[in-house]
Amino acid sequence: MTTPVNRLRPRRSCLAVPGSNPRFLEKAQGLPADQVFLDLEDACAPLAKPDARHTIVKFLNEGDWTGKTRVVRVNDWTTEWTYRDVVTVVEGAGPNLDCIMLPKVQNAEQVVALDLLLTQIEKTMGFEVGRIGIEAQIENAQGLNNVNAIAQASPRIETIIFGPADFMASINMKSLVVGEQPPGYPADAYHYILMKILMAARANDLQAIDGPYLQIRNVDGFREVAGRAAALGFDGKWVLHPGQVDAANEVFSPSQEDYDHAELILDAYDYYTSEAGGKKGSAMLGDEMIDEASRKMALVISGKGRAAGMRRTSSFEIPEA
Ligand code: GLV
Ligand code: MG
Repeated sequence: MTTPVNRLRPRRSCLAVPGSNPRFLEKAQGLPADQVFLDLEDACAPLAKPDARHTIVKFLNEGDWTGKTRVVRVNDWTTEWTYRDVVTVVEGAGPNLDCIMLPKVQNAEQVVALDLLLTQIEKTMGFEVGRIGIEAQIENAQGLNNVNAIAQASPRIETIIFGPADFMASINMKSLVVGEQPPGYPADAYHYILMKILMAARANDLQAIDGPYLQIRNVDGFREVAGRAAALGFDGKWVLHPGQVDAANEVFSPSQEDYDHAELILDAYDYYTSEAGGKKGSAMLGDEMIDEASRKMALVISGKGRAAGMRRTSSFEIPEA
């Protein structure tokens, strides 16, 4: 099985689009989100699901999703809908689909089941086996406890996603405001959850994605919550409204200053470790000492900046002797 090609694509903004709503499916194509996911789960009423599967197939095949990672969120394995969601969508639009998002994942076996079903459909339909990736949503205590095994359950896994709304319900958190701190707790109530997801993602070379912020008119609030996840190292966040897209793209891209600095470190370290630069393992860049660890940190920032299409505004100059 091949490694999914989309694993490293930017996913700063992951736009949720109800699969039963042609107007939203039309509009989503024109928004600058890195990823869209067409939803058959909680944004799609049970009675609307059978038709929505076909609507999604049509929009995947006929829409213009250029530049976006195309994902469909199916229903979770505890429902009666999952297999039909996967069979209808993948048989109907497999070549125009990048990933299936599996919500409320509780254990590695649920990922393996989806992997096996995808493989059967790919073989039957003559599609490339293993190309379609899996995004696993962690939305309850069982899922969080098993997150590392989930991250390792299939080479198709590309992202681990935090689903705060379902998660808050699952652990009886005393708040109805998704993503905001519950009143009465003086620290960050999400820190442990986000860090645990991030560790599983990083240990297995996957992307970590934060879930939705439901107060769609409060862009400052969105920025603050997104900024917390970005500061920890998350790669992106869900967006539910056009007004959140630019904010997510900005928050999950490096600042121009950091991007320039990262590129400078890479060039400087390249030079100082070379024959001409004196084969040094550590060196000074202005007032800053840089070494191999600085290079690794710079690679992260520069990788995000390059993926976001940023251009540098300064260049490294070899210091005069
Ligand atoms: C998303 O699915 C959530 O539950 O927050
Ligand atoms: Mg959910």
